[in-house]
Amino acid sequence: MNNAVIVIGGKWGDEGKGKIGSRESKNAKLVIRATGGANAGHTIVYNGKKVALHLIPGGIVYPQTTCLIGQGVVLDPIILLEEIKTLEEMGVPDITKRLKISGRAHVIFPYHKHLDTLFEKMKKNPIGTTKRGIGPCYSDKDHRIGIRVYDLLLPIEELAQKIDVATRIHNQMFLTNDMTDRLVCPYQLASEFYCYGQQLKNMIVNADILVNSACKNDDKIVVEGAQAYRLDKDFGDYPNVTSSNCVTAGTLIGAHLSHKDVKEVIVVVKAHDSRVGNGPFPTEQPAHIVNDLVLDYDSPYIGDIIREEAWEYGATTKRPRRTGWFDAVILRSAKGVLGADYLCINHMDTLGKLGQIIGSVKICTSYKYQDKEIDYYPDDMELTGEVPTPIYTTIDGGWDIPSNLRDFDKLPEGAKKFIEIVEFVTEIPVKYIGVGPDNEDLIVRNL
Ligand code: IMP
Repeated sequence: MNNAVIVIGGKWGDEGKGKIGSRESKNAKLVIRATGGANAGHTIVYNGKKVALHLIPGGIVYPQTTCLIGQGVVLDPIILLEEIKTLEEMGVPDITKRLKISGRAHVIFPYHKHLDTLFEKMKKNPIGTTKRGIGPCYSDKDHRIGIRVYDLLLPIEELAQKIDVATRIHNQMFLTNDMTDRLVCPYQLASEFYCYGQQLKNMIVNADILVNSACKNDDKIVVEGAQAYRLDKDFGDYPNVTSSNCVTAGTLIGAHLSHKDVKEVIVVVKAHDSRVGNGPFPTEQPAHIVNDLVLDYDSPYIGDIIREEAWEYGATTKRPRRTGWFDAVILRSAKGVLGADYLCINHMDTLGKLGQIIGSVKICTSYKYQDKEIDYYPDDMELTGEVPTPIYTTIDGGWDIPSNLRDFDKLPEGAKKFIEIVEFVTEIPVKYIGVGPDNEDLIVRNL
């Protein structure tokens, strides 16, 4: 049965995937988080209270759902236990009954975070990672020295042996880099993480069985993608990427699903673009940001206006995000890779306000690159040393959209024109349009 709705980020993350994820999860039976770890973040609202979650799927707020942290996730048990506690305190029912964790997900240890910081320091051009230990944990997985969630249930001695093997090289790194305070004592760490395992024990499952049975029963499944197309370790702006395959295919593996289970892939973007961390961003606008800090300024650059109007600050790291105009070329390249069925464009109201402040809004519809006009995202920028120059289509003025508008036909002409251009360039139908901050502030087109 093809019952899975997959929600994927179309640019560099932070597109507001939680909004459409929440809409889809309302009548879902199983909601899955498939890749990444506590580098992701989304805000959920329950009984008027807001909280940022990094690991637990946002669908947990709907009491009929079972929520799975899939095998592709790198799981920080300390953060997970905090999230469970917070949700319980908020009154979300039956968390520990409804939350399931794949025993095959890998565990993030403090040494992964220390290595993340060390590797960033060693690089001439740091990536600007979230320092949550994501890359080092996936790299241990690839080296086959990773510790899985199942391992937390081993007797302490056996867990300590695994940690000992995993950290022999890591300890050498700490020794030679003047980080003796970071040296790992396997038994001590095993004792601590064994306790976390005991607290999570009843939630740890063979997720193949859970997911297969949901598929067989024809249950609606929602997969909440993490990160995004341009952060994918293969398709993205390597090396300025995350360490997982966060495109549709990688997301399916992480979620214990096959391509045959997919009903619909919804690609989520904003009506402007943003990026945290380093790497190419063709439509980036100048802003007063240095080393992840906003400097004092008298008159804002366009990037500052976009950042402040759209409140582009990281949910996980609080870092100010780089901002720019909407890049439709990226999505043209993403369409096939992601198997995109529909686009969800958030922040259409914000873009209208930006147009009112700035006088016009822009959409990048092609690039100038290596002296040619191209309509795809190039993959050899490191080689050429060139970031493509956007060629823009401009829409004069801005618009107002009341957040309670639900009728597509009543959108202001400027907003409709924007969507028309996006559809023309990307060849992906725009089905969902975000018109306000709340999850319900969404226009759904009958397509
Ligand atoms: P890492 O995933 O912490 O290794 O970071 C690698 C790159 O991905 C950095 O540029 C991060 O800022 C970026 N990144 C990771 N997760 C997210 C996310 O959820 N939203 C936006 N950027 C992210």
